[in-house]
Amino acid sequence: MIPAKERLVLPLDVPDLDGAAALVSRLHGEVGVFKVGLELFTAAGPAAVEVVHDVGAQCFLDLKLHDIPATMAGAVASAAELGVKYLTLHALAGRRALAAAREAADGGPTRLLAVTVLTSLDDEELGELGMAGTDDVVRRLARVSVDEGIDGLVCSARECEDLRRTLGADPLLVVPGIRPAGVDARDQRRTATPAAAIERGADLLVVGRPIREAADPVAAARAVVADIAAAAGGS
Ligand code: C5P
Repeated sequence: MIPAKERLVLPLDVPDLDGAAALVSRLHGEVGVFKVGLELFTAAGPAAVEVVHDVGAQCFLDLKLHDIPATMAGAVASAAELGVKYLTLHALAGRRALAAAREAADGGPTRLLAVTVLTSLDDEELGELGMAGTDDVVRRLARVSVDEGIDGLVCSARECEDLRRTLGADPLLVVPGIRPAGVDARDQRRTATPAAAIERGADLLVVGRPIREAADPVAAARAVVADIAAAAGGS
C-alpha cells in the first residue's frame, strides 16, 4: 500500500525553475510527488527534476512520449537515468513502442504510465480522427498498455471503476481533475473529490489549483492527504 502522502501528486504548472522551487520548498512536507510537465521541462530541463529530488520527494515526469519504438526506448532510458519515479507516454504509440519503453525501464526506478485518450478530446473530435466511441477506445488502449507491461494509466475518476473491473487490481490508476468538496471546478469537467476517487479505485491523485491557489496551500494539501488516508482505510 502506497502511503497517503505519496498518493498526492502536485503539478508544478509554472513556467520557470524559481516558481517550481518555491512550490516544492513550501509543500514538500505535505506532498510526496511533484509533477514536472512539458512547460517546465521545456524551460528548465533536468534541473526541474533535481529541484524535486533535492528535498527527497518523488518526481512524476509528465512528458507524454509518443514516438517510434527506438526513440521511446531512448527517452525512457534517459528518464530512468534521472531517477524519476513516474513517466507518462501515449498508448497510441502502439504495442511495439510500449514494449520497447517497458524493456528500457526494466530493472530501473521508473514506473511507466500510459495516457489513453486525452480528456480534452470529445466524441466528435475523436470521430473526426477516425476513432469512434471514446469509452471503447480508452478500454482498448488500456488493455494494450497493460498487456505490454506498462505499470499504470492516467484516467478520469469516471473511468476508474470500469478500468479496475477490466484490468484487475495491479495497474496503477492516476487521476487528475480532483476537486475537494466546495472548491471551484474551474476548467475541469468530470471532477471527483479525493475520497470519491480513492473509493473508485484510484491510486494517485493529481491535485493542482485547489492546493496552489488556496489561501493556505499547506493546510489544503494536508486536508487532501487526510481525505486520502481516511478513504483508503487509514494508510
Ligand atoms: O489544477 P488542476 O488540479 O486542474 O491540475 C490538474 C493537472 O493534471 C494539470 O497539470 C493538468 O495538465 C493535468 N491533467 C489533467 N487532465 C488530464 C491529464 C492531465 O488535468 N486528463
